Amino acid sequence: MTTESASAAHLPDHEIPTMSVEELRGTQLTRLQETVRTAYANVPHYRAAFEAKGFHPDDLRSLDDVRRMPFTTKADLRANYPFRMFAVPREQIVRVHASSGTTGRPTVVGYTKRDIDTWADLMARSIRLAGGHPGDIVHVAYGYGLFTGGLGAHYGVERLGATVVPVSGGMTERQVQLIQDFEPRVIMVTPSYFLSLLDEMAREGIDPASTSLRVGIFGAEPWTESMREEIERRTGMDAVDIYGLSEVMGPGVAQEAATTKDGLHIWEDHFYPEVIDPVTEEVLPDGEVGELVFTSLTKEAMPVIRYRTRDLTRLLPGTAVPSMRRMEKITGRTDDMMIIRGVNVFPTQIEEHVLAEPRLSPYFQCVLTQPGRMVQLTVLVEPLSRLEPGAAEEIARSLEHAVKTHIGTTCRVEVREPGSIERSIGKARRIVDERPKS
Ligand code: DLL
Repeated sequence: MTTESASAAHLPDHEIPTMSVEELRGTQLTRLQETVRTAYANVPHYRAAFEAKGFHPDDLRSLDDVRRMPFTTKADLRANYPFRMFAVPREQIVRVHASSGTTGRPTVVGYTKRDIDTWADLMARSIRLAGGHPGDIVHVAYGYGLFTGGLGAHYGVERLGATVVPVSGGMTERQVQLIQDFEPRVIMVTPSYFLSLLDEMAREGIDPASTSLRVGIFGAEPWTESMREEIERRTGMDAVDIYGLSEVMGPGVAQEAATTKDGLHIWEDHFYPEVIDPVTEEVLPDGEVGELVFTSLTKEAMPVIRYRTRDLTRLLPGTAVPSMRRMEKITGRTDDMMIIRGVNVFPTQIEEHVLAEPRLSPYFQCVLTQPGRMVQLTVLVEPLSRLEPGAAEEIARSLEHAVKTHIGTTCRVEVREPGSIERSIGKARRIVDERPKS
């Protein structure tokens, strides 16, 4: 069988791949050439972008040629709202999802039947790598709907041959009840909403370590090693990271292994990763931190060519899955980078210090204001329980000092009442921008 027909005959694969790096590179090139040809032929945006760059699909002879292709951005997707990025007739689209988009139009993505199949396979692989097994009960608390989290996870659990409990987000008390009654071994949820579930257990006097949960597959937002330690310490679970974005597919683009917990393996037989300098757009060598860029290799409905994710990470060699590179846990997004008195600060850096103070809950928010010329950062935190007189002041000063010493910027810390920081049932809102809109 040639590589071409092998890849076509063999697309969906819910097992963790064992191919060699040479085999993988061959598969990537074949699939890439096919993707680029289809995108060029069927999506006017890509044809125009390629022509503007003087690049033709026939110029793609090796994987190194990827860097000669144009980038795709969220603005390109918005400009082609709703369906003009689709490479197949609309009748072949069996599902759409959309990202909410805080400003302007949402970003719409579409899937053919085969795309949904591939996605289910990749999610099944991901759950396996996370330590889930066929036969497990899996509680899915990612939101169902236009967001890709719920349905993405759902189809993956079914493909794995496990039992899915499609709870979606919200109704926290009932979630805890269902965990008690159905005894799931695995939970899939944003790390911030999982904290709310832990709070509810605490309120009801349930020790989280006494529940049936053994594996947590957490993603859709940045979370730190300190958060992993905190969750694992409180629950006795394996807490692993899952990554994805709707424009590229949804959850299951990359998954961390429970056995190594050392970053996320990118399913490179379906997505070709690059890391670039977000300013110069130059491709960086593996190991250097920059903006993650993906080219889809098997998507039919909406192929993406060099999609700029705005997520910051670096590529590392494979470990648990030897042929597939890992991406380091995401530090943040270029959009979430706060520049405070010339210093770049991400909410994840603040999280490390909040979690280091045992009297504080893991909830926090970064509020940006601009009273004069300078941007000011105020970090809102809350104690786990009522504090002794003077303790709030002491915690605030010591956190301000830690931020100054370790991150190198000045901030103000405000210790609020227990339970007063905004909770979310999906992705947490870490940055509240109160600067005047110019
Ligand atoms: O958040 C897909 C998803 C659902 C991933 C459930 C994992 C679990 P979007 O709503 O399109 O899709 O948002 C994608 O979320 O570009 C990252 O900035 C962020 N993100 C997703 N996973 C992680 C993660 C889903 N593990 C955007 N760590 C991405 C850090 C993440 N950030």
